[in-house]
Amino acid sequence: MERNIIEDTISFIKNFYSKDFSGHDFWHAVRVYNLTRKIARAEGIDNINMEIAALLHDVDDIKIKKAGGITVRNYLLNKKITNDDICEIEEIISQVSYRGNHRIPTVMCAKIVQDADRLDAIGAIGIARAFAYGGCKGQPIYDPDIPVREYITEKTYYENTTSINHFYEKLLKLSECMNTQTAKQMARSRHTHMIEFLKQFDYECQEAEIKK
Ligand code: ADP
Ligand code: NI
Repeated sequence: MERNIIEDTISFIKNFYSKDFSGHDFWHAVRVYNLTRKIARAEGIDNINMEIAALLHDVDDIKIKKAGGITVRNYLLNKKITNDDICEIEEIISQVSYRGNHRIPTVMCAKIVQDADRLDAIGAIGIARAFAYGGCKGQPIYDPDIPVREYITEKTYYENTTSINHFYEKLLKLSECMNTQTAKQMARSRHTHMIEFLKQFDYECQEAEIKK
C-alpha cells in the first residue's frame, strides 16, 4: 500500500472536521494519529492500517456524523487499497470507542488507537475538550443539583449530565484503563493535572458560597 494514503487521509479529515466545535476536530484526529505512532513504536508495532484507523476513528461516530455524509468505507473505496485492508481498518475503529462502560479491544492495533484516543481525552487537552463538548451540546458546566451517575450504560451515556460530572463519570477512570504500558506511563501526569483542576474548581465554588 502506498504511503501517500496517509497524506490524502490527512487532507480528507481536515475538510471533514472543518466545522466541528465539539472537541472532535481535525487536531484531535492528528493528535490521536501522532500518539498512536508514538505508542506503536514503543510497543514494537508497525501497521499502516492502524495509522489510517487513527486518523479516521471518529468519522463514522454518530455524535459528529451528518445524515447522508461520507463513511469510512465510502472514503476508502476510492483509494488504492484492498477490501481486506478496509475490513481491518473498520475492525480497528469499531473496537476503539468507549461509550458507557469500557470494552477491551481484542486486536493490538485497536488497543493502541484506543489508548491514543483516551490520552487525548485527559490532561489539559482533555479538560479543554470536555468543556468544548459540553458547550457545543448545550450542557451545563456545573450544576450541584445534577448528581454524578454511578453506573452508565450505552443508552444513558448521553443523558442529562454536566461537564464537571463527566470527569467523575468517565475521564478520571481512563488512566486506569489504558491497554499498553506506554500509555499508562503517559497518562500519569495528565491524570494528576485533572485532579488539581477539579480541586481548584471545588475550592472556587466553595469560596462563592454564602455561608449561613
Ligand atoms: P468515545 O469516542 O470513547 O466513544 P466520546 O466520543 O463519547 O467517547 O467522548 C469523547 C470525548 O468527548 C470525551 O473524552 C470528552 O472530552 C467529550 N465528551 C463526551 N461526552 C461528554 C460529556 N457528557 N461532557 C463533556 N465532555 C464529553
Ligand atoms: Ni476520538
